[in-house]
Amino acid sequence: MKQYDDQAAVVTGASSGIGRRVALDLADRGAVVIGLARRAALLETLQHDLQRSSPHSRAVVCDVADVDQLRSVLAEVEGRYGRVDVLVNNAGVYESTPIADPSHDAYARVMATNFFAPVVATQTVIPGMLARGNGIIVNVSSDSARAPEPREGAYAASKAALSAFSECVAAEVGARGVHVHVLYPAWVPTAMGLGDGTGSAPPKLVRRTEAQVSNLLLERMGTTRVDINASRLPLVAVLARTIMPTAYARTIRKYGSRP
Ligand SMILES: NC(=O)c1ccc[n+]([C@@H]2O[C@H](COP(=O)([O-])OP(=O)(O)OC[C@H]3O[C@@H](n4cnc5c(N)ncnc54)[C@H](OP(=O)(O)O)[C@@H]3O)[C@@H](O)[C@H]2O)c1
Repeated sequence: MKQYDDQAAVVTGASSGIGRRVALDLADRGAVVIGLARRAALLETLQHDLQRSSPHSRAVVCDVADVDQLRSVLAEVEGRYGRVDVLVNNAGVYESTPIADPSHDAYARVMATNFFAPVVATQTVIPGMLARGNGIIVNVSSDSARAPEPREGAYAASKAALSAFSECVAAEVGARGVHVHVLYPAWVPTAMGLGDGTGSAPPKLVRRTEAQVSNLLLERMGTTRVDINASRLPLVAVLARTIMPTAYARTIRKYGSRP
């Protein structure tokens, strides 16, 4: 198992789901973890659980959509721990955005958390990483970025923007010792994955647990490969849309016609 001894790791969206698992696993593998999210009660439990294996780890209330708050929390972390070695931009929100709804507020909310927050966090920690000549940044995207479905314009666009941003930065800083990754978690039965519980279960080939995704990430990050795919099945969609665009569009429309 790859170890992260004494590395300072920030994980956003650490109060539940994939982020909580990644935070706990990093702590188990030797890192000092700073978990960020908004729900204070869940963070209290997280801090207690983190400190069992990593006594200097902490959980800090931070709304990543508030860029001033995010910058100041990250500056405080760098001041206290001397550096950020690993940043996992995992916090994310989903909102259904049917195009007939004229409000653009949902787009602003989703972009703030899913795209602008990772951009700001990356800009804040990357100067230190470049100066030290090492560091890892993980941006948690979604297969929606590569195979968007109906009514998820805000979410899919935010994740597509995040993937493109990550690839640009990865190419820019990769030769200078800083590894930037895009994580595609497939489908995980978290609060977000389950939604309101009315959707049909996705195929078994794309179902993963938090532990599986976290373990894959912790083994792969820090290597030269930018994309980390929890399942390869969604890549078939990328291939299909390239070689059979009409059939692909028909399938997505049919899928989208479900209530
Ligand atoms: N589950 C899946 O199938 C799946 C698939 C593809 C991608 N993803 C991505 O995986 C990531 C984690 O999602 P999840 O499935 O683990 O869902 P989740 O259990 O709902 O976790 C989302 C996390 O994001 C945090 N968060 C949301 N808005 C925030 C804000 N403004 N500031 C700080 N933290 C915020 C939440 O904490 P608070 O509410 O306490 O702030 C929570 O800890 C997301 O980026 C999601 O898009 C998930």
